[in-house]
Amino acid sequence: MSTDLDIARVEADATQALSDASSLVDLDEATTRVLGKKSALNQISQRLGSLDPDARKEAGQALNAARSRVQSVAASRRDELEAAARAEQLAGERLDLTETMGRLPRGRLNVVTQTWERLEDVFVAMGYIVAEGPEVESDWYNFTALNLPVAHPARSAQDSAYLDLGEPESVLLRTQTSPVQIRLMEAQKPPIYAIMPGRVYRRDTPDARHNPTFTQIEGLVVDRGITFGDLAGTIEAFTNAYFGARMHSRLRPYYFPFTEPSAELEVTCVICEGAGCRTCSNTGWIELGGCGMVHPNVFRNVGLDPEEWSGFAFGFGIDRLAQVRHGIADMRVLFQNDVRFIEQF
Ligand code: DAH
Repeated sequence: MSTDLDIARVEADATQALSDASSLVDLDEATTRVLGKKSALNQISQRLGSLDPDARKEAGQALNAARSRVQSVAASRRDELEAAARAEQLAGERLDLTETMGRLPRGRLNVVTQTWERLEDVFVAMGYIVAEGPEVESDWYNFTALNLPVAHPARSAQDSAYLDLGEPESVLLRTQTSPVQIRLMEAQKPPIYAIMPGRVYRRDTPDARHNPTFTQIEGLVVDRGITFGDLAGTIEAFTNAYFGARMHSRLRPYYFPFTEPSAELEVTCVICEGAGCRTCSNTGWIELGGCGMVHPNVFRNVGLDPEEWSGFAFGFGIDRLAQVRHGIADMRVLFQNDVRFIEQF
């Protein structure tokens, strides 16, 4: 009897059947068929009894070896199919939470807001606090307390938008952030080192350099023994911190009712870095805003003794600063929500 041949053939068939199983159900079925009670291997085993003892022993060993190889083929095929089934299940349950976010265009802050926040950072790093005031102001805070009495000619330089509230021309949209100086000095005793950013309003027709609504940042320092030198040094330190060490500032005599002496504040032209170009009318300097030493009348209006306290103030346009820094030709684009512009910052 050619038991050896039978064993080799049965083992080869069994191995093939197990390898062909393409699912765990198939494999269970094939395993029963090739290793179970009615399997060809079992039938051979039952026939061994008719062999003489030596041949039986030899064939028995061959059969056991074949059976254990078939068992290990079955086990490794099971591992493969289980791993594949698990991978398929995981792929089916996968939730790609990043997919939608990745496709949505991301929003950003308007360049004016970015400039505003950057300015706050620079002054906060210099030890200043940030204060705010209302956008609807009384005539007292916006003008009178700032040493602009009724009929003062400088009032008409700021075309005010009045509200229909109370006495005629007594309540208005603030034309400047300077009234916050008054509110701050009323609210807290010196020393004061503060900046006051905010939105202001004027009855202007929009053009390349004006928007009727714009933003300013006000600065106020009140302490003992503050000098014009402190003002100039502070402006220079700010210019270096905000624009970079190659940029400088200069102060030129000017007039503001709430400061005496007053100055116009200029910084190195960012376009030509001082060499002279069209943007700066060949002067090498760009005007940013105004500043000066707090007028004694302003101190008196908030109950501070000008003999005891001195201080400086400054104010400039945040939009204007953004325009200068980024070389924006027309101010109107700042608020037109044109994504082609907005996306550049
Ligand atoms: N309020 C002024 C304006 O809107 C700017 C200004 C100038 C503010 C001088 C100041 C200052 O505090 O000292 O034109």
